[in-house]
Amino acid sequence: MEVIIQPNKEAAASLVARIIANDLRANPQLVLGLATGKTMERVYRQLVRMHHEEKLDFSRCATFNLDEYVGLSPNRPNSYRHYMDCHLFSQVNIERRNTHLPDGLAADLSAECQRYEALIQKAGGIDLQLLGIGKAGHIGFNEPLSALRSRTRVKALTPTTIKQNAPMFGGEDKVPRRAITMGVGTIIEARRCILLATGDSKAEVIAQAVEGPITSMISASALQLHARCTVIVDEEAGAKLKEQEYYRWIFDNEPEWESYR
Ligand code: F6R
Repeated sequence: MEVIIQPNKEAAASLVARIIANDLRANPQLVLGLATGKTMERVYRQLVRMHHEEKLDFSRCATFNLDEYVGLSPNRPNSYRHYMDCHLFSQVNIERRNTHLPDGLAADLSAECQRYEALIQKAGGIDLQLLGIGKAGHIGFNEPLSALRSRTRVKALTPTTIKQNAPMFGGEDKVPRRAITMGVGTIIEARRCILLATGDSKAEVIAQAVEGPITSMISASALQLHARCTVIVDEEAGAKLKEQEYYRWIFDNEPEWESYR
């Protein structure tokens, strides 16, 4: 795992967008794993800008989102399909048929989870998985005690997650109680993972996920098992990391990061 500390939210998001753009330019048929949430909005703004200003081409790539609420129709404003349409898909030249999210309205939810896993396999697996982190340490909706080998399935949301997402729904009572999410095992099969966290509300959980023990109580800690995972934080989210000096030295000196500095 590598950790990169950037001065602020915009710089952190811009670095993530540049990594995605470079991978996409190197492989126009990239299979991208995508996340939703407040943190990612800046990343998608940058990708849209690059599409318009730098001709970043999405026409041949495929995307798989991490999760979708159960019971929300795709055109409801809080569905993740709607989020992705607004923030990215409608603003770049991606083929809609190449964009995938779990169907939270499926009559048979467990069959839908299996279908989603099979679709990822058929696409050849995920090349680059973008991740945020919840205050309870989740990636996707892998809430505490999610098995580290879990696959796509239905998960009940914890009270912490319900509280975190309540502002978008206009109250805790309006937040769906369940979601379909890729499993921790599904996520760590991606060839490369990038986790982005910003703001002081994420400082404690980032320290636990990165420098704490691997535990199903903090599903993001499973990323320590991944051979190619980069955690990108702003100063605030990185504030509780013990080895900040070491992480900064690596980013400032290692040749891999030269073109990103
Ligand atoms: C959503 C997802 C979640 C979010 C996390 C952080 O697709 O994967 O794990 O990334 O809850 O959300 P924000 O960015 O709103 O704090």
